[in-house]
Amino acid sequence: MNATDIKAARTAAIGATFADVRAIEHTQGVTPAALEAIRARLMDLAGQEHLFPSAEFPPPPNGEKGSNRYLLIEAEGGRFAMYLNALNPGNETKPHDHTTWAVVVAVDGQELNKVYKRLDDGSDPDRCEIVLDHEVMVEPGRGICLMPDAIHSIHTTGTRPTRHIHMYGLALEKLDGRKAYMAETGEVVPYNKNFMKPSAEAKA
Ligand SMILES: [Fe+2]
Repeated sequence: MNATDIKAARTAAIGATFADVRAIEHTQGVTPAALEAIRARLMDLAGQEHLFPSAEFPPPPNGEKGSNRYLLIEAEGGRFAMYLNALNPGNETKPHDHTTWAVVVAVDGQELNKVYKRLDDGSDPDRCEIVLDHEVMVEPGRGICLMPDAIHSIHTTGTRPTRHIHMYGLALEKLDGRKAYMAETGEVVPYNKNFMKPSAEAKA
């Protein structure tokens, strides 16, 4: 396939997946089982690596920190959005929430997800007590589902850049109440407000 054909095939595959994911949420609501069904559908898309070539979805140049986030598709008003995130090895985030559901699957590369359990009752908006609950290595063939209140941190511990597909119930730039949770100090602080806009356009 040439680049034009790949782009057309990618657009079609993304559109079909997006419609199916929306239908799953519409039918089942936001539940762990619904997110697992969404993950299965997204894994079908991510398994078509030829649709997401690294040349078109590169990470930041020269091994730089941060992510290139490519908007693949979003619904009107940002309700439902799908991105491709490309990160170099060596990145990590603080533990954070999303305030909407999230499912992440891998085209290529590894991202270690640490998922935390909250021990306090959340009654103090500025304080928390979190502990590590479990870890999931997101990589080809393995994704992660996160309910709106889930707290995770990511760590690109692999040797190659990631190309991971992220699907959210609401576009990231619409999320203004996200929080980071400091495991050591117990502080709860605003998370990543400045990084909510897609940072890159696909090269083709
Ligand atoms: Fe996250």
